[in-house]
Amino acid sequence: MNRRSFINNLSVCGASLTLSPTLFSFTKAPEKKIRFALIGKGGMGSADCNTALRVPQAELIAVCDIYKPRLAAAKKEWGEHLKLESNYKNILADPTIDAVIIATPDHWHQRIAVDALNSGKHVYCEKPIIHKRSEAKALIKAQKQSGKIFQMGTQGVSSVGIQLAKVLLESGIIGPLNFVDARFSSAPGMLNSFQAPAEATPTNLWWDQFIGEAPKQAFTPQRFFAWRNWSDYGTGLAGDLFVHVLASIHYITGCKQPKKVYSDGDILYYNDGSRDTPDLIYSLFDYTMPDEKSHFKVSLGANVLDGVSKQWGSTDFSMIGLKGTMRVTWDTVTIKTHGTVNTEGLEERLAQLPGFGAMRKISDYEVQFSANPEYPDAHFLHFQNFFHAIRDKSESVAPVEFGVYASSAALMSFESQMKKQII
Ligand SMILES: NC(=O)c1ccc[n+]([C@@H]2O[C@H](COP(=O)([O-])OP(=O)(O)OC[C@H]3O[C@@H](n4cnc5c(N)ncnc54)[C@H](O)[C@@H]3O)[C@@H](O)[C@H]2O)c1
Repeated sequence: MNRRSFINNLSVCGASLTLSPTLFSFTKAPEKKIRFALIGKGGMGSADCNTALRVPQAELIAVCDIYKPRLAAAKKEWGEHLKLESNYKNILADPTIDAVIIATPDHWHQRIAVDALNSGKHVYCEKPIIHKRSEAKALIKAQKQSGKIFQMGTQGVSSVGIQLAKVLLESGIIGPLNFVDARFSSAPGMLNSFQAPAEATPTNLWWDQFIGEAPKQAFTPQRFFAWRNWSDYGTGLAGDLFVHVLASIHYITGCKQPKKVYSDGDILYYNDGSRDTPDLIYSLFDYTMPDEKSHFKVSLGANVLDGVSKQWGSTDFSMIGLKGTMRVTWDTVTIKTHGTVNTEGLEERLAQLPGFGAMRKISDYEVQFSANPEYPDAHFLHFQNFFHAIRDKSESVAPVEFGVYASSAALMSFESQMKKQII
């Protein structure tokens, strides 16, 4: 049985009462569908949309993109009935649309999100939800005034692994946290230089709408497709990658923001004018736990010039405490301690956690906690949580203030590298 049929079977059986709040949503009678639109049909927008469509109560109505080939592809992928728009304001003006997914480059996130909230739409916004820290206040205000649901696209926080890590850290099993460590390398082959597709012409692309409020530039496909390389549109490797780990750390520890951040990095290889953000960055973050009783440091590194190590920190990082360590992935938490691992009472506690599968003793000093392999993936759970929150008027798992704090921590790291100073 695969994950989906497991869920479907549950809903058929009506096995709701002993289930988690997450699975409970499947067991309710079908209701009016939540009608959503996608703004930004690139790589992640497409993945988001496909995942959102796996949630039974969600219906895709419209797609917006400024690049014609992607708009045309939307109908092929999701149906001829779709309304297609190149101006997101037309999507927001449609009263039949309840929610939007924003998956444009980073420099558009806050502007579109504020407009969407002011138009009465619920918002699922890709990370980082702000491009500059100065954008935070207006976004929080728009969400508060609208009362609409907001979810940041850091799907890891919905994973069973991160949920397990939160309970395990709180249980004291590794003692007070002192260090978190995560590394990112490039996917092999990523060093190849950029090649524009033949259809990337000014007639196929609304260039001014890509630029938005960023400094004016003559049309260049490289900036459009490799926008992550440029600080006018992206937020460097910190906003692209670190934000996922930071969101998970904030979720697990309850911390909101680092006291200070120091980064170093450089353009070590791509100094051919193809980027103004580093291809290698290392950052140290200084955090105090919410009870102010202990402090911990976070070390994050990303090196896109390393095509060999295959490290992906957002889905695999270490948390080190005085009594032991936790290696956290989205499906497992592996604990190693100095003495015998004390698991007393833990299994019962974890049994209450949606998606918990099993506890496996590897040795007296090592225990692994894992997700039920039949339980849905983090991306699906994150979207389910979003639609669930809309339907039940409950808080989402990554609401706007949480998103602003995690995004700001990533932006502090980026800023520190660019300015070569402690932030
Ligand atoms: N959550 C995750 O795991 C994850 C993974 C990858 C990317 N992302 C985020 O998703 C976002 C998109 O990244 P991507 O890799 O899909 O980029 P992409 O370049 O593949 O897609 C961006 C799309 O937005 C469109 N676009 C640009 N400006 C627009 C505008 N003003 N109005 C409408 N459409 C516009 C582009 O034409 C393009 O199709 C980024 O913010 C990125 O950080 C998140």
